[in-house]
Amino acid sequence: MIDIKNITKEYGDFVAVDHLSLKIEKGMCFGLLGPNGAGKTTLIKMLIGLLKPTSGEFLIAGEKMNRNNTKLKNKIGIVPQHINLDKDLSVKENLIFSTKLYKIPRNKTKQLIDDLLAFCELRSFEDRLTKNLSGGMKRKLMIAKALVNDPEVIFLDEPTVGIDLNARRKIWDMLKRMQDLGKTIIITTHYIEEADYLCDKIGLMDQGKIFHCDTSKNLKKQLGTYTIEYFNEHKNTEYKYFTLLEDAKKYAHSLNDNYLLRSLNLEDVFYNFANKKVK
Ligand SMILES: Nc1ncnc2c1ncn2[C@@H]1O[C@H](COP(=O)(O)OP(=O)(O)OP(=O)(O)O)[C@@H](O)[C@H]1O
Ligand SMILES: [Mg+2]
Repeated sequence: MIDIKNITKEYGDFVAVDHLSLKIEKGMCFGLLGPNGAGKTTLIKMLIGLLKPTSGEFLIAGEKMNRNNTKLKNKIGIVPQHINLDKDLSVKENLIFSTKLYKIPRNKTKQLIDDLLAFCELRSFEDRLTKNLSGGMKRKLMIAKALVNDPEVIFLDEPTVGIDLNARRKIWDMLKRMQDLGKTIIITTHYIEEADYLCDKIGLMDQGKIFHCDTSKNLKKQLGTYTIEYFNEHKNTEYKYFTLLEDAKKYAHSLNDNYLLRSLNLEDVFYNFANKKVK
């Protein structure tokens, strides 16, 4: 569905995305994980036609994206990193506004908006002014807005930032339902458990490059199966990774009870990746 070939984006002398290649299959949920400034938003902005790559090219659904390719733009949905709602319009009016942008015929608008309100569980708030919504509701409305044109591919840049766990889980349910409808999803997040729960494949990105790209299971397997956390003599937390439980236990034995032995998780992979890059 998405085929990125060697794209680079430079801002002056600074390389934000660096000769990046990536393929994302149809129907897949692909997660981009990386520290602040890794280049995730820049990559997404290129894919949705908001920024022109400095070099390289990419295809979405077999087509080249550019500012004027409305046919391709109609196939994509966008949930940007920053809130893109009109705060002085109601929930419903925000959606009506989007249907006008996509020139959806008037006789289809009512049903579509009803369906979207049900999908994002905002029906009982349809007349509430957007400025009076909670953070979680705003994020849900942004997703509904991105679905107005029934896109094949949806880009979500940190869709659950700054909202509570309950609201985040509701959004995860929405994204799972979108996967069931066969949509291709590209999501960036700083919540590692979110990527672990939702994504078929995860790309670990830093300094404009994707360094590892695999399933969560395989990314974990590269590092091991068990993690031991312990305080070193400087009261800093250290992590050690093991494939075999008996090796982990042997190591733990030398730590005089001052440790936690647990299953290795995706956070370990990310932490190890980020720390290696710092060193
Ligand atoms: N318009 C711009 N001009 C110059 N530099 C920019 C511009 N936009 C982004 N950058 C720089 O490019 C790098 C990548 O930014 P980007 O927003 O893509 O990162 P990100 O991975 O989305 O980070 P975050 O997790 O904080 O959202 C950063 O160092 C940023 O300062
Ligand atoms: Mg970003």
